[in-house]
Amino acid sequence: MLVSFAALLASGGALVACGTQGISVSKSSPYYRGAVLFRDHCSGCHTLSAVGAEGSATSIKDRVRTNGPNFDIRKENVEQVLYAIRNGGFSGAIMPENIVVGEDAQDIAKFLAAYSGRQSQHVPSVNITLTTK
Ligand code: HEC
Repeated sequence: MLVSFAALLASGGALVACGTQGISVSKSSPYYRGAVLFRDHCSGCHTLSAVGAEGSATSIKDRVRTNGPNFDIRKENVEQVLYAIRNGGFSGAIMPENIVVGEDAQDIAKFLAAYSGRQSQHVPSVNITLTTK
């Protein structure tokens, strides 16, 4: 168990390295601190373009178990993020618990609530008429 977890961490490290191209949040923004913390602690497993993070899988083919949800698409609110940080995602199976705590967790949650879901697609809904026999 320990060995496989170390292997996960090692591959996670490689992902972090390629997921740190830059933060597009202004340094004077109240969200900047959260953005830096997110890049440092979460970008290995989650995608979010505001911090240049590419930790989520882009195709099924190179998906790995540690790939978390893509926050460009998925909108989160502060409570959900704090819950996920405390409990290790919603399932507790993969994401480590309490990677950050206290004020750091608060700052990440506020940042993510503001910046997540920005590229979610608003697909127009199509009304279909169901025929009842
Ligand atoms: C080791 C990889 C890993 C790291 C590091 C990681 N996560 Fe996750 N995270 C996941 C995975 C995998 C899931 C999805 C499965 C689950 O919910 O258990 C997830 C789920 C989540 C969810 C729930 C999303 C949803 O809508 O289902 C949130 C919010 C979240 N992570 C935030 C964070 C934050 C904030 C950080 C940094 C403090 C972080 N994660 C670090 C892997 C990771």
